[in-house]
Amino acid sequence: MSGVTAMRCKWFSVVLFACLCGASFPAAAQNSSTAVDAEGHQWWQHAVFYEIYPRSFADSNNDGIGDLNGITAKLDYLKDLGVDAIWISPCFPSPQVDFGYDVSDYENIDPMYGTLADFDKLASEAKQRGIHLILDFVVNHTSDQHPWFLDSKSSRTSEHRDWYIWRDGRGAGQPPNNWTSEFGGSAWKYDPTTKQYYYHYFYAAQPDLNWRNPQVETAMFDVTRWWYKRGVSGFRLDAVDTLFEDPNLKDNPEPGGKNALGDPIQKRIYNTKLPEVHDVLRGLRKVADEYNSVLIGETWTHDIAELNRYYGVGNDELQLPMDFLFTTVNKLSPAEFRKQIAAVNSASGWPTFVISNHDIVRSYDRYGDGRHNDQIAKLMAGLYLTLRGTPIMYYGEEIGMKTTPPTRKEEVQDPVGRTGWPKEKGRDGERTPMQWNESVNAGFSSAKPWLPVPPTYKTHNVADESKDPNSVLSFYKTVLKLRHTNSALLDGNYVPLNESDENVLSYLRVYKDQGVLVALNMSPSEKKISFELSKQGFRSLTALAATEKSSADGDVVTLEPFGVFIGQLSK
Ligand code: GLC
Repeated sequence: MSGVTAMRCKWFSVVLFACLCGASFPAAAQNSSTAVDAEGHQWWQHAVFYEIYPRSFADSNNDGIGDLNGITAKLDYLKDLGVDAIWISPCFPSPQVDFGYDVSDYENIDPMYGTLADFDKLASEAKQRGIHLILDFVVNHTSDQHPWFLDSKSSRTSEHRDWYIWRDGRGAGQPPNNWTSEFGGSAWKYDPTTKQYYYHYFYAAQPDLNWRNPQVETAMFDVTRWWYKRGVSGFRLDAVDTLFEDPNLKDNPEPGGKNALGDPIQKRIYNTKLPEVHDVLRGLRKVADEYNSVLIGETWTHDIAELNRYYGVGNDELQLPMDFLFTTVNKLSPAEFRKQIAAVNSASGWPTFVISNHDIVRSYDRYGDGRHNDQIAKLMAGLYLTLRGTPIMYYGEEIGMKTTPPTRKEEVQDPVGRTGWPKEKGRDGERTPMQWNESVNAGFSSAKPWLPVPPTYKTHNVADESKDPNSVLSFYKTVLKLRHTNSALLDGNYVPLNESDENVLSYLRVYKDQGVLVALNMSPSEKKISFELSKQGFRSLTALAATEKSSADGDVVTLEPFGVFIGQLSK
């Protein structure tokens, strides 16, 4: 996990749309099926989501930066892998200060990624393959180059002045309060034109929107409608925790100490997770429901009670608030995973599991021991792809991509890394180009990529791993295929087994008379476990998927170091 994210964690049926509003939308315009399975589960509950960082996935025009046509060209790969929905990190026009998380036009595509026509082609090709498109909606802030902000800062009486948060300083040269930015320094920037400060939770180039202004709400809700009409099946809502601030701007308590960026550690109680956030989420959900769409949330919660609040009362907010608590189990500890799985299973909504993303150190390194990383990558796949809930994969995870941080400050792209160097190296390491093959630049681009390709592309790439039945990629494909076809994995309950075992995490997924056993050896030595399956009402066990040297004999399962065994149970 990057230092910045660690700091944050601490504190705290088919509907077709043709012509709408006089605008005609491309043939791809569609939203999602309302069909449910026998258990009432909707498409997104069985779907496997896959996050694409567009700069780094595939570069079709060879300028060193990935693009939408690059993604379109890889849809067959994604389909074959077992992906049902892709979440594309922001691809809207942006000055790219925070690589797209600073949006200057919510209803277009940044020319570096292509055009709206390219987007429509992607949507249409994805639809043909049954892949849903999820966009990343940056709700907390815009770019300082967004026309709304440009107007807002132009004068105290401008039309959009109150669309952002402007305040007088406490005194000469003093910001309105002690709030610090997640990305370092004060969260207030003085603007000499109008002689007031504006608030930015992230970079100064990312001014926070004033969600207390109903015009902001209307404009932002309309943005989601605009994309739904274009065929998008949902949004990942960026940084929802930070939408509101205390109107009295009370100082945050500072318990002492400094963070990796050199700022005083703060308990961000007055500018994160304010209850008003839930009003906005309910509103966004109402619009999403008009289009049978799904909302995923970037929700850094401390506990399940907090996670439950994001599902909303009667599940009227986010369908998929991400359970990052799972990523906080940063070691291979069966006890810790058991605890988190049980907790999220007790939550009021459908679990969402994430092990990697563009802000945190990749799972390959977080769990890897340096010697058995490939085995451990398979182990993690065996875990989070067999649990009851929706997994959100991160590009490259399926081939065992490694976090490769910059080694010199001059190489750093992520401004967080430039501010925090060398303590905080930023997030470049988890955003390196996708490793497609062994050719130059790992087949990502024929031009020099925007971030260096890690040397591991020689051993970890899609082309080579596709040919190797024991590769991380082949294991991912096997497990992903199972979770799309096995009824116990689709709809089954989670039943923990052998709960005092310190080395092996095992559980059943049970649906009617179907059962699947999952056994995961989180230790570096071989383990043999006798499961008294008759006690669970099952007679025989046959392998569905297992790592090379893991097997079952009767109800005794032998697991190689970090081995995985997934077996079908019958009555
Ligand atoms: C979210 C994004 C992160 C971005 C930040 C500011 O946390 O995941 O990448 O820097 O929001 O938009």
